[in-house]
Amino acid sequence: MDGEEQATEGLHFVGKKDQLIEEKRSFRTLEGRDILIIHQQGAFYALDSYCYHAGGALQNGDIEDIDGKTCIICPKHKYKICLANGESLYKATDPTQDPPAPRWYSKGVKQRTHMVTETNGDVYVKLSYNPGWVESDFYQGEKGKVERAKAEAADKATS
Ligand code: FES
Repeated sequence: MDGEEQATEGLHFVGKKDQLIEEKRSFRTLEGRDILIIHQQGAFYALDSYCYHAGGALQNGDIEDIDGKTCIICPKHKYKICLANGESLYKATDPTQDPPAPRWYSKGVKQRTHMVTETNGDVYVKLSYNPGWVESDFYQGEKGKVERAKAEAADKATS
């Protein structure tokens, strides 16, 4: 089920719970925004479907537990994005430790996530427009489509 859905008080019906569990990853366009809905270890998540870094297609990314957080790994350049809050994680060495040891750090929220609710087997997504600008906004909508094409062309030119 692709395409625009009916909205009631900002809630968009995105499918039956059983169907979404079976699909594991579902793509929807809501209010002109392309959203990825993921069912993982008993929980639903919704987030912008194009990676904030260069518009990579997150629906093809692996999902891993990183530092106790469920993250999707962008298939394009392997950035790690937390499904729950859109935080981007990276590993670096902590110079305050002796000997310096690698650990995970947060770059902050980079990918917009959205609220998922379920009522009587029906699943709804409410888009979040907080907190202001989030980097994944860049690759959404008509302008975002153009930017994704530019990023794709730049990637091809350097590979
Ligand atoms: S586009 Fe996702 S890591 Fe670069």
